[in-house]
Amino acid sequence: MKKRLAVFASGSGTNFEAIARACADGRLDAEVALMVCDKPGAAVVARAERFGVPSFVASPKEFGSKAAFEQEVIRRMDAAGIDLVCLAGYMRIISDVLLDAYGGRIINIHPSLLPAFKGAHAVEDAVAYGVKVYGITIHWVNADLDGGKIIAQRAFEYDGNDPEEVHRIGQKIEHALYVETIDKLLKEKK
Ligand code: GAR
Repeated sequence: MKKRLAVFASGSGTNFEAIARACADGRLDAEVALMVCDKPGAAVVARAERFGVPSFVASPKEFGSKAAFEQEVIRRMDAAGIDLVCLAGYMRIISDVLLDAYGGRIINIHPSLLPAFKGAHAVEDAVAYGVKVYGITIHWVNADLDGGKIIAQRAFEYDGNDPEEVHRIGQKIEHALYVETIDKLLKEKK
């Protein structure tokens, strides 16, 4: 049976789309069964609609607390029979509530070669530091911010000072690396 993915995103959703497309055209033997977005109005919401992916879109503020929001997310993931959770530009720290329920089944993509440049501004921080080798990391999610065990990394060289350019190069790599890595993890799980 096809594995069932949840993809969490807060913004544009190009990684969501790369994963949904790979599922749709059979490169991934999986289905995106749920898209979770904490930012109503984010571009990822329209992408999910285009791919016919059911979504849960809500601001945690509406739930009064992060715990209550995550409990609702868990309820929906349980109902959808989710096997693997892929954070794809989800700009919110996952709390113990979600980790207790889905820990060991949550992965994240981060736009730096971890453990360098953790946090929400990795590319800008790396450019400001003047690094010459950039990269992308996919890792398991645990209670340490961007600190879980590394699953995959891919590096690229860039000698300049334009964060936009680094984002552009990095995102192409992200889309390919995320699909490859999910594929590998799902095959290992069989
Ligand atoms: C991606 O580049 C991802 O690496 C980054 O957000 C972007 C989302 O792009 N994530 C982080 O910075 C997490 N700390 P997308 O919405 O187009 O997929």
